[in-house]
Amino acid sequence: MRLLLVFAHPLEHSFAAVVARTAKETLEAGGHSVDMLELYREGFDPRLTETERRGYHSTKRKAHLQRIRQALSKI
Ligand SMILES: Cc1cc2nc3c(=O)[nH]c(=O)nc-3n(C[C@H](O)[C@H](O)[C@H](O)COP(=O)(O)O)c2cc1C
Repeated sequence: MRLLLVFAHPLEHSFAAVVARTAKETLEAGGHSVDMLELYREGFDPRLTETERRGYHSTKRKAHLQRIRQALSKI
């Protein structure tokens, strides 16, 4: 199975980070493919700006959409 693991925590050694890494490693050991999206590491800003809303289908968020689509595909 293809999975997208979305992780959002600012601290590399937090409990949440350990859980996320353990989940990724365990799933991969089970033969699954895991794409881990680390929102803090990439400086993701959840606020949608006016410019982004007006260019809704041509913004940098398109890369995230592709990763979601990949996780939903069966191949
Ligand atoms: C972006 C973010 C969102 C969070 N959202 C929630 C939440 O909705 N409910 C909650 O109980 N804790 C929330 N937390 C707190 C985490 O669950 C908390 O980090 C957890 O208790 C584990 O501790 P840690 O900070 O060492 O990972 C959030 C933390 C972060 C960074």
